[in-house]
Amino acid sequence: MIGSVALAVVAAASTAVASPLSLYRRTEPGTGTDNGFYYSFWTDGQGSVTYNNGPAGSYDVTWNNVNNFVAGKGWNPGAERVISYNGTWDAAAVNSYVSVYGWTRNPLIEYYIVEAFGSYNPSTGAQLLGTVESDGATYNIYKTQRVNQPSIEGTSTFDQFWSVRQQHRVGGTVTVKNHFDAWAKTGLQLGTHDYQILATEGYQSSGSATMEVFEG
Ligand SMILES: *[C@@H]1O[C@H](CO)[C@@H](O)[C@H](O)[C@H]1NC(C)=O
Repeated sequence: MIGSVALAVVAAASTAVASPLSLYRRTEPGTGTDNGFYYSFWTDGQGSVTYNNGPAGSYDVTWNNVNNFVAGKGWNPGAERVISYNGTWDAAAVNSYVSVYGWTRNPLIEYYIVEAFGSYNPSTGAQLLGTVESDGATYNIYKTQRVNQPSIEGTSTFDQFWSVRQQHRVGGTVTVKNHFDAWAKTGLQLGTHDYQILATEGYQSSGSATMEVFEG
């Protein structure tokens, strides 16, 4: 009740603000911190993407006719943390992924622990290097290479490490250490951690997602 009254006063005092009652705020492409979480919102600029940071580790994103975007919330630096998340993903029929996603430097690596993918399997054409059992499922391990592609260090050539969950889900716990250890055993060495987020990605598609991530 007290909260409602206070918010009503704010609403009356700041008519220029779109909606002070909404806890989701439109956020431009880039990186930063929001409500104690790191966020990254990257788009190659084609089509439209609306990304809103929300309370704690929550965000929502709606995209239309994009080429490629990746957005989400998490931490910087990444670590062997236990990451839980929940939400809704309205893109299961189009080209989109829900993943724990991050980067390292020295070597420059882009990594994905894919919880669910839509119409396109990101491991298509890649050689299966092994599997890892984690959090109630088997994940397939792959490595791919990107040549002269966008990265946290500008346009670069780098490897991507993948764990792809055989049984898709949207929501649960990801014990990141299990993947890092399995990758290392397979010869896939990460570098110094940069950011690590619960990412929604879209490729040549339209869709939407509302996600919330937290540690533990
Ligand atoms: C995640 O789960 C919590 C607890 O059930 C719920 O309050 C919250 O709305 C959910 N977040 C999303 C993005 O669905």
